[in-house]
Amino acid sequence: MSTTSIKEVARHAGVSIGTVSNVLNRPDLVAPATRQRVLDAIGQLGYVRNDSARQLRAGRSRTIAIVVLDVANPFFADVVRGAEMEAEQAGGVVVVCNSGEDAARERRHLDILEEQRVQGVLITPVHDGPDSRLEQLISRGTPVVLVDRGSGHHHRCSVAVDDVLGGRLAGAHLVEQGHSRIAYVGGPASIRQVADRHAGAAAAIGTNGDLRLVETASLTVAAGRRAADEIADLPARERPTAVFCANDLLALGVLQEMTLRGLRVPRDIAIVGYDDIEFAAAAAVPLSSVRQPREQLGRTATQLLLEEVNDQDRHQHRHVVFQPELVVRESSSRQHRRRARANPAG
Ligand code: RIB
Repeated sequence: MSTTSIKEVARHAGVSIGTVSNVLNRPDLVAPATRQRVLDAIGQLGYVRNDSARQLRAGRSRTIAIVVLDVANPFFADVVRGAEMEAEQAGGVVVVCNSGEDAARERRHLDILEEQRVQGVLITPVHDGPDSRLEQLISRGTPVVLVDRGSGHHHRCSVAVDDVLGGRLAGAHLVEQGHSRIAYVGGPASIRQVADRHAGAAAAIGTNGDLRLVETASLTVAAGRRAADEIADLPARERPTAVFCANDLLALGVLQEMTLRGLRVPRDIAIVGYDDIEFAAAAAVPLSSVRQPREQLGRTATQLLLEEVNDQDRHQHRHVVFQPELVVRESSSRQHRRRARANPAG
């Protein structure tokens, strides 16, 4: 741990302490040659700024926290990437906390983040609706932006995607492809995104078919495999010919299990996922999916948070809702024939 002080750096570089501070905080104010002399001294002495003193003066760190539901889900990795790009442009950093869809764990993260005086918190809450801990965080001066959650609340911003429309797009596509026995795989239903996607698909399918709910305990590949088992075990005359999944991890699990059970995708069973993570297009049978603007969700949430941090008096809370987009690939479309692979032998 470096114990070199800013005073030693100034002496080594032959400048004032104020000049060293400017090089660290306002480098544009320092002549290039002087700036380089100070940077050389910092490198030679191994000086590391102690931000805790600055935090005490400023009352806040330059750290933004994002609390995600499942750090293993690539959806959140892309959201975090967008948040990081925006935070770094403002000279800050993003720290990631994983609630693992556990409300007690989420609360513990929020307690520590408040103690650390983070600039603000981006969060996809485990539970929808009013949250006393988030209210407390806001009332004690830590701005909060809901991510991937709509919010009618007047004292926080939110960014989300119209998941009902997303479900509609998937349901209408499967009906257009000629399916009338369709399964919706997702859960728990207490997660707002899961419920909205289901509602949208049901509205689009309407009287054109039967939508069977196969509820899962989580939104993971393993849960998708278990749901596929349940579907594949149904008698052929009852078995759905298409599956709409609440997210791509579930869809990848369904694809894997159906393939292991000898069912051909899309010939015997069509599959549509949600998020359009990178692995969707790369799957053995490229996955149709409802695309969410993942990085844009992260960027926009961070922009809203920084707007509030930088001008709390004039900031007006906003609820930004993005539109999803259906990306059709081979897993649900007979038209998307597998491209003939070039003969490796040439
Ligand atoms: O958090 C689980 C799911 O909800 C993600 O896959 C993404 O779809 C989000 O909206």
